[in-house]
Order: sequence, then C-alpha cells, then structure tokens
Amino acid sequence: MNMSSDAAFQKCTNPDCGAEFECAQAIFKCPKCGELLDVLYTWDKIEVPKNLSDFARRWANRSSPLDFSGVWRFRELLNFCEDKYKVTIGEGQTILQQNDAVAKYVDMRPGCLYLQYEGLNPSGSFKDNGMAAAFSHALMVGVKSCACASTGNTSASVALYAHSCGLKCTVFIGSGRIAYGKLSQAMDYGARTIQIQGDFDDCMRQVQDVCAKLGLYLVNSLNPFRLEGQKAIMYRIIEQMGWNVPDWIIVPGGNLGNSSAFGKAFRELRELGLIKQAPRMAIINAAGASTLFDLVNDKKLTWNNGRVNRKIIDDYYANLTARNFSPHTCASAIEISRPVNLKKCLRAIEQTHGVVRKVPDEEIVDAKAIVGKYGLGCEPASAATIAGLRHLRAEGIIGADEKVACVLTGHPLKDPNITVNYHKDRQGQFSNPPVEAPNDLDEIIKLIGSVETD
Ligand code: F0G
Repeated sequence: MNMSSDAAFQKCTNPDCGAEFECAQAIFKCPKCGELLDVLYTWDKIEVPKNLSDFARRWANRSSPLDFSGVWRFRELLNFCEDKYKVTIGEGQTILQQNDAVAKYVDMRPGCLYLQYEGLNPSGSFKDNGMAAAFSHALMVGVKSCACASTGNTSASVALYAHSCGLKCTVFIGSGRIAYGKLSQAMDYGARTIQIQGDFDDCMRQVQDVCAKLGLYLVNSLNPFRLEGQKAIMYRIIEQMGWNVPDWIIVPGGNLGNSSAFGKAFRELRELGLIKQAPRMAIINAAGASTLFDLVNDKKLTWNNGRVNRKIIDDYYANLTARNFSPHTCASAIEISRPVNLKKCLRAIEQTHGVVRKVPDEEIVDAKAIVGKYGLGCEPASAATIAGLRHLRAEGIIGADEKVACVLTGHPLKDPNITVNYHKDRQGQFSNPPVEAPNDLDEIIKLIGSVETD
C-alpha cells in the first residue's frame, strides 16, 4: 500500500497560536510564535490496524525493506510521507532483554526488569529511529544538505543516513566534549565536522542560525519528524512484551527528544484505542546537567495546558549564564543544560504521570559496569536509567514487582575511554582491571590459579 501524506500536518504546540502547516514545509519552529511543532494526523484518513498485534504480520514479509525496518513496520502510526520517500538502512532491529541480575542490583523481583538495547542500531544508538523518519522528510521536501549539533550520537547517525541517501552533511560538536567512538564515526561516515569552542548548547544555538542562513535541513530533535521515528522504540518494547505495555518506561534525559516522542507515542496509542493505559515515565538527568530535574522538582514547572511559565525558565537560564555555567558529566551524551524539547517533555511528564530524578557520575559508571557484566553493555548516559531506577526503588516510587523497561540508548563501544578508566583505575566497586603477568607459563598458571580461588 502506498501511503500518502495528506493525512498529516504540522501544528504549533502553543495553544494561543495553534498555527498549522503542511508537512511539505521544513520549518522546525513555528514561524509565527517560535514555539515547537508537532506532526499530527487525521486518523480517520489512515488505515490503522485495529490491534497492535496486527503489525506482527509484517514479520512474514521481511525481505521488503520497509517491513524489515523497526520504524517503518509501524508506518501507519507515522504516516507523513509516501512510501517512495521512506529511507531505511535497517534500523530498529533491537532487543528487549529481561535481565534478572540487573533487576537484583536495583532491588526488583526476577522477571520484572527489561532492558531495551537501542545501541544495536546501525550507528550504535537510538538516533537511527529518528533519522529514518527525518531523512524521509528531507527527501520529501527535496533538500540537498543537512546539519546538526551533537554530543556525538546524533552526528554519527546523521552522517550515516546523509551519505546513505546522497545528502551533504555538517555536524557541530563541542570541542573536547565528544566520546571517541562517536567522533570516529562522524569522520568515517564522511561528515564535515566542525568543532566549536564551546559546549553542546553553544553548538545548538549556532546550528539553528547556520541552517536558517544557509537553508540547510536541521536534523536535531527540534525537527518534529525525527521524533515521529523515535516513537517506534515504544512500539517495539510493546511488541516484545507480547503486545503488552510495561508499568514504567525509564529514559535518560538530554535534549528531551526521546521523552517527548515516547509521551506522544502513548498519547496516540490511547487515542486510537490500541492501548488502555500508558506506562508512567521516569526521566533521568545526570547530576552535572540537571536542568529538567531542577525545573520540575525545585521550581515546580509544569505543562499547564501548553501555557508553560516562561519566566521560570528564563530566570533559570539567566542564572546559568550569570554563573558562566557549563554542564559536566561523564555521560557526555546528556551533557546539556538548555534542552530544546523542554516544553514537549513537560507535556509528556504530565500525560504519563512522570517523574524526574538526577544521578551522580559515580552511580552512572557503577550501573554501566553492571549492565556490562550481566547484560549486553551500554554507554554511560544509558546507564543513568539503571542508577535512576535504584533511586526510585529506594524511594518506593516504583514497586519491586512492577514491570519496568529501561531504554539503553547507546552501545558500550561508543565511549571506550570511560569504560577502560573505570576498570583500570579501580574507580568503582565493580572495577575489573587487567592483571599484569610475566611472559612465563608457570607464573601465568600460578596467577590464574590465584584468580580462580578469589
Ligand atoms: N542517550 C544517548 C546515548 C544520547 O546520545 C542522547 C542524546 C540521550 C541519551 C538523550 O536523549 O536528547 O532525547 O533526551 N544525544 C544527543 C546527541 C543530544 O547529540 O547525540 P534526548
């Protein structure tokens, strides 16, 4: 079936504006009031399956690239472009793993904790879900060149999708702020890489102006089409739980694209009658980059039907500027202090009865070591979910026998330095440093014997 785009449109999230635009426009922010845009659907113009399990029939047709894609096999739920524009490089073949050893670490009952490994995507992070959708939109509107600001994973994913569909791409990264695995990908996949003397927030500001001035297509999560692709992470969790919804979704919070997209996914599934109840969402900041935590928990900022109290945000940011504050965390992926999707995230928090927590770096690296030791591993930002879950268990906010899915956003090889230093320098309680041995068989056997009896 060839899907058409006349059932989709863009709409400003500001209720006092509410301007609507065609999907054929690449505008990224409301040209009338500057607020974020949503992609919305006229559902009665779309043949959405009656049950989520109806999507399972696509498994039988996996030689078709769109049915194989873990994003496009749910295409009725993000129906903004015709099939001929849809881009896929095989994203979304990711695993939901039930993990009892990690469950024990966070004080949950066996059978209750699930880890969604988004690091298994082609570029090694969840970003590929969003890029499949954003680059489809880019082809639909006919652009030739794109750009993004990044803490690393976006740049890797953008570079990969850009060359896969013949677009030029420029990525902006903060000087010295990016993990090596990610930088290596951006260069290897052929992106023009610009290192700005500044942090991610500086890059984000620059890239928006550069895109406006040079007419480049912006592929950051400000781009509402990207968030449409990221909804698929939730569809796949439900799919892998036998079309059931968990009680909780836990996600790291950086630029807040994921949390916004997940909230929208559940809102739509409820509207469509495909689920009865949305899971609750917990968003985890790093303590060194805790804007969302501070605004929600300390300043009591809420969605307030779309009329978010701008003064609270402006005052908070003015204070950051006055202190010359730049965020710092070992979880460099979420080292962000001015998240662009803040308001959409507040909406998602309200609609999922969500909570926000922050976790210090020491807990992040310990949690990361646990996911490495007992699971498939992940990068530091992803492990913030496990560290955050431990807090929420200790507080009693999440019950030991609730079903919890943590979104592990990036692959362990993204940031080998953090891992090597943690183990070699014995930085945490799960450090597993290499043992020095002389080049001598007897000594080696003696050494292994002593390790075996440890
Ligand atoms: N986890 C990883 C591994 C990430 O790379 C990011 C964001 C996040 C979590 C946070 O997700 O922005 O949706 O709240 N990385 C972006 C980048 C900012 O440029 O790669 P979010």
